[in-house]
Amino acid sequence: MPTMRAAFASRIDDADPLAALTVGEQPEPTHWADDWVTVRVLASSLNHHDLWSLRGVGLPADRLPMILGCDAVGVDPDGNEVVVYPLIADPGDPRGISILSEHAPGTLAERVAVPRSNLLPLPAGLSATDAACLPTAWLTAWRMLTTKGRVDEADAVLVQGAGGGVATAAVVLAVAMGKRVYATSRDAGKRDRIAALGATALEPGARLPERVDVVIETVGAATFDHSLKSAAPLARIVVSGATAGFEPKVNLRRIFAMQLEILGTSMGTPDDLAQVLAFCAERGVRPVVDSVYPFSRVADAFARLHSGQVFGKVVVDHTS
Ligand SMILES: NC(=O)c1ccc[n+]([C@@H]2O[C@H](COP(=O)([O-])OP(=O)(O)OC[C@H]3O[C@@H](n4cnc5c(N)ncnc54)[C@H](OP(=O)(O)O)[C@@H]3O)[C@@H](O)[C@H]2O)c1
Repeated sequence: MPTMRAAFASRIDDADPLAALTVGEQPEPTHWADDWVTVRVLASSLNHHDLWSLRGVGLPADRLPMILGCDAVGVDPDGNEVVVYPLIADPGDPRGISILSEHAPGTLAERVAVPRSNLLPLPAGLSATDAACLPTAWLTAWRMLTTKGRVDEADAVLVQGAGGGVATAAVVLAVAMGKRVYATSRDAGKRDRIAALGATALEPGARLPERVDVVIETVGAATFDHSLKSAAPLARIVVSGATAGFEPKVNLRRIFAMQLEILGTSMGTPDDLAQVLAFCAERGVRPVVDSVYPFSRVADAFARLHSGQVFGKVVVDHTS
């Protein structure tokens, strides 16, 4: 059976997810249907999702080994440089849809297989390593701000836990959209970097100079009370993750008295991805890249993400 190099979950380890990661040979990806194609991966980026997978969240042991990675830029069979949209229709998943690395092998490999309709052209001016940051984290942040948060009706935005991939995307996008942006981080060094992106950086829980119209929540239990307290009347609190815990204490009185909307979201549509790609290409907006690792050091890239020290995206260059 032909094989390729890949980074994959070889077991589940909730306590030590890095110990569950193996870098080695895996079978070439197969096509689930006639409209699938194989893409040669040029660049990928890591997401917190990859750590969740190694911890067994959304990835049961009976699906192992599983190649990790949701994001990729690559070359299609016709030689075109493409960005891979990571969600696929999946009759085996109760949601009817799954993200690469949940059922179908992921992008942290020499090649990945997806339906041809999941491929979008790489816009001129965007590098493969920059565009590889967009399909999950930036797509999610885009939909949180636009479709869900209705940021066009907003003056001020709060982003919690601003060092993360989704959070830095939300800061950069909201600043580029001309909004007043506040962002919290536990780390003084990250707060300096947030300020350099054009946002007002705050310690977690700090009182804001004004209430905001949109809150971007990916932290969860540690910040949700502050999100509620910082929301202006009629504000939208958009939730796409809960890195610090799924069960915050919620003051319901604040929700109805302030007429707040709490909106859940996951990823976005292919059209959303096309929009965020075009926005970045046309407006000269570029993702915040924490670090770029050659594929030979992919385990170090995972350790970097796991350290909690990241500011922006951890990228893997598959060409070096
Ligand atoms: N639903 C979806 O479609 C979707 C898509 C993408 C991501 N997500 C989810 O969104 C979350 C963020 O993803 P990501 O890839 O951006 O992760 P990430 O890069 O690992 O970011 C995590 C950030 O959360 C903050 N944080 C972590 N623990 C915290 C705590 N105890 N208190 C306060 N802040 C804390 C940190 O910010 P500071 O260090 O700056 O404080 C950290 O930089 C994850 O849970 C992920 O699963 C969901």
